[in-house]
Amino acid sequence: MEKPEGARRIPPFAFLGVNDGAEWESLASNAFCFSAPSGMNILFIGDIFASGGRGIVAQNLKELVGHYKIDLTIANAENSAGGFGITPLIAEELLSLGLDVLTGGNHSFDKREVYEYMNTHPRLLRPANYPNGLPGSGVFTGKTSNGVPYAVLNLQGRAHMSSIDCPFRKADQLLDSLDPATRIRFVDFHAELTSEKIAMGWYLDGRATAMIGTHTHIPTADGRVLPGGLAYQTDAGMTGPYDSVIGVEKETIIKRFLSGLAGRMEAARHGIELHGVVIDADEDTGRARAIQRVHCIK
Ligand code: FE2
Repeated sequence: MEKPEGARRIPPFAFLGVNDGAEWESLASNAFCFSAPSGMNILFIGDIFASGGRGIVAQNLKELVGHYKIDLTIANAENSAGGFGITPLIAEELLSLGLDVLTGGNHSFDKREVYEYMNTHPRLLRPANYPNGLPGSGVFTGKTSNGVPYAVLNLQGRAHMSSIDCPFRKADQLLDSLDPATRIRFVDFHAELTSEKIAMGWYLDGRATAMIGTHTHIPTADGRVLPGGLAYQTDAGMTGPYDSVIGVEKETIIKRFLSGLAGRMEAARHGIELHGVVIDADEDTGRARAIQRVHCIK
């Protein structure tokens, strides 16, 4: 169904709304230009952490999608099961909220019960550059309800992480394998190091619509559209408990730094926030026109 031209545009102003007690705002982080009539809006939600993260997504997703006239919703869900991995039940729960694609990372394989599910449910991704033979896939291709073809790619960095296959060469391979008619190409790059993420952004500029970083759980303020039309942000930030150390009970982690001994890690419960980005892209060229951060506070 065709939307009126103006309805696709991301509002070019900071917005503060209230939804059932939760406050949410968007932070303009780019010079906005809304001249082209054809476009689609993509919502990407950063690492959903444990039940608190899932709860704030459930509370706000519908209103965010309505407000921004979102055509495609993607979320990183590798920490959605108590902070470590994802189960089939939780994947179903998140997809039933209206998320179109779930991406993963270094915790994708934490729960063995999800292996078979990954093989049969292509909307749940794991990083594509793990060695051949593991369950699941790192790329999903589909169409929006308006019939716009899109691809979601999931890659993982190697700096201070497992030494898996090269994410840069895997990105080349995946992008080359896509149907050229699929112009909208979104990449979740799950990586530890800022420089590795920025390098990947420049490497993909001109070949993908967006590359958003995940894994560090801290939203960065560097969202911008690169010259080749790639919407970039180093990290979308966590969707979960900020009264924590990147999602885990802070006392446990402080004790760990003081003693050098690993304690049992539990997901924190307080300070729940949702962090993500909205991208306005031209569906004909695949180029992004704007990116802005989205932030909801419970
Ligand atoms: Fe991670």
